[in-house]
Amino acid sequence: MDPGPARPEPHPEAIPAPFPAHLQAIGTAEAPFEVFLDVGDLPSGTLRRVTHGDRDILLAHTPAGILATDDRCPHMSAPLSIGELDGCIVACPLHEGRFDLSTGDPVQMPTTGGLDPDGVYHPTWTPGGRETKSDVPGTKAEARRLTRVRRLRYYPVRIVDGRVEVALGPG
Ligand code: FES
Repeated sequence: MDPGPARPEPHPEAIPAPFPAHLQAIGTAEAPFEVFLDVGDLPSGTLRRVTHGDRDILLAHTPAGILATDDRCPHMSAPLSIGELDGCIVACPLHEGRFDLSTGDPVQMPTTGGLDPDGVYHPTWTPGGRETKSDVPGTKAEARRLTRVRRLRYYPVRIVDGRVEVALGPG
């Protein structure tokens, strides 16, 4: 039998990362695992988007291990997979929000301001050395002020035969 093309060597350190139990996506505890990609296609320090039907999943290979969450920023849904990963912190490409993948919490609020996961208001964030952006009052400013940054939700991951498997659940 033809064994097919050789798969990339798995990274020896590839392990599923722990995540806060209360942030596990609903319906995934009993969900079947599905193969997403070869471990070799997710080197340490990288992000990948994997699409299943209408669901875009972010796989991140952090120093804590491999994590799976939605590829949607918890602020305004931009794809985190094209952001930057620094340790366990992913930076969103849209409004400079930064999120800790090991805890699911924002570590830097977006440049638009808004509500954090606990509903606490944070004013517009401006990078150091730049003038604070003025936010002209109106419906758009109100929408930004009322937009809540949520916590990430996680899908269980396991590594089997050098492949990353994820339990997606019903969605
Ligand atoms: S969409 Fe990510 S910080 Fe706004």
